[in-house]
Amino acid sequence: MPTFLELTHISKRFGGVQALADVDLTLESGEVHCLVGENGSGKSTLIKIISGVQPPEAGGKIIIESREYSHLNPVESTRAGIQVIYQDLSLFPNLTVAENIGVGQHLGGFHSVDWNAIRATAKRAMERIGVNLDLDVKVEDLSIANRQLVAICRAMAADAKLVIMDEPTASLTRHEVDALLALVRELKKKGICIVFVSHRLDEVLEVAERVTVLRDGKKVGTYDAKEMNDHKLAVLMTGKEFHYDLAAIDLSARKTVLSTRHLSRKGDYKDISFDLREGEILGITGLLGSGRTELALSLFGMNPPDGGEIHLNGKRLALTSNREAIDNGIAYVSEDRLTLGLVLEQPIASNTIVTILDKLKGFMGLIPQAARQSTVDRWVKDLSIKVSNTNNPVKTLSGGNQQRVVLAKWMATAPRVLILDSPTVGVDISAKDGIYEIVRGLAAKGVAVILISDEIPEVLYHSHRILIMRNGRITGEFEAHKSSEDVLRVAVNA
Ligand SMILES: Nc1ncnc2c1ncn2[C@@H]1O[C@H](COP(=O)(O)OP(=O)(O)OP(=O)(O)O)[C@@H](O)[C@H]1O
Ligand SMILES: [Mg+2]
Repeated sequence: MPTFLELTHISKRFGGVQALADVDLTLESGEVHCLVGENGSGKSTLIKIISGVQPPEAGGKIIIESREYSHLNPVESTRAGIQVIYQDLSLFPNLTVAENIGVGQHLGGFHSVDWNAIRATAKRAMERIGVNLDLDVKVEDLSIANRQLVAICRAMAADAKLVIMDEPTASLTRHEVDALLALVRELKKKGICIVFVSHRLDEVLEVAERVTVLRDGKKVGTYDAKEMNDHKLAVLMTGKEFHYDLAAIDLSARKTVLSTRHLSRKGDYKDISFDLREGEILGITGLLGSGRTELALSLFGMNPPDGGEIHLNGKRLALTSNREAIDNGIAYVSEDRLTLGLVLEQPIASNTIVTILDKLKGFMGLIPQAARQSTVDRWVKDLSIKVSNTNNPVKTLSGGNQQRVVLAKWMATAPRVLILDSPTVGVDISAKDGIYEIVRGLAAKGVAVILISDEIPEVLYHSHRILIMRNGRITGEFEAHKSSEDVLRVAVNA
């Protein structure tokens, strides 16, 4: 296959952080090339250099179809056929599908906009890759998965030769991931090169021809995906080995902390009854639309049920806000770190302690600097958040490290019930391991945990008991140590 792009001796520093050190990479037309590495290993930085958002240090070379550059700007990069789909997708939510796809091709300076041409372009782009969306729907009314399709069609409309997707599957369900991977194969058939960044090693191995591994800004190597498995990749990424097993606990001996009886909310979930015991990790899994997240939000006071009861330590709870939930010792870590979890412009430190400001307040409502710093430092250390200075804004952290700040924020409230909704989405394997470790530690101290996840291995290996939800109902219950991935997979798809 012809080489489309070649990088040689690419380095990048941000202040004291060596984000990339002497990285070489070749990308061929018609290949799917996955980029993997732990949080902060430099994947997004490498992408920003290819897309011209950041210049590399002097000495590096970028060669695109035999033309050599010392650095690119975004216009040159786009002209060369490079399109990046960032995690936030950079779409205009208040414009329609057609406008989002086609508008870039038909904005001739300040001239009038040719709406018919926009529609035609959008339609052609969708047809080329077999996507079928209503052109006149506003993007804000689409699911994340469909928004992603719009972003990919926009790349098609721009005649992309290289499409880079930075963690495209982080907020998708398994079903949607399958659809996206099918589309990636379609792009490949058209001779387009795809660079795919993901923390889900199973899907990386499913779709990639070659995999490049980064560790601490250095390239470990580029490998043939056929010769890899997720264990080998994890070891290359981290230099560590991993083992999982969660010992069974005797639930009958444990006090019930949280229970629901016939909890219902029209359109979301129905007749949900379960008990959650002290120190128990209860996994909940199911397909898209199973009502898991809606249920979790109700338990956190944000999506009030319209029938049934919630009890906490034997007392009936009628939560009307998340503030009340927090006051009752219930914490919720959402799956959507970028929109719900953090104030990106604010320092890491204040994001970490925002939930416990009341507790830290001393004389006259002031927060003693020392208490603030020691709380922040403790969580940064416990969750191994990679950070040079906790007073930097959260947005300077890599994606996975942002997720850890969200977790720290909730852990700091010392909850009695901790609800984790897809807590490891976008988090690399050793950070995942760190999060599981912390969750187990909390459970061992008596915290009752609900672990919601799409990933069957995640609920299986890190919960004591698993509930399956489907169309808003609980359709199965399994003890983890008596179950298997296959058994759960069958139950989820039944
Ligand atoms: N604008 C910036 N200012 C300061 N440091 C930065 C900046 N951008 C990235 N970094 C640092 O460079 C390193 C590499 O970050 P990068 O975002 O490339 O990681 P990543 O591999 O994409 O991680 P993740 O899997 O968490 O998304 C990190 O230590 C990060 O904090
Ligand atoms: Mg990244």
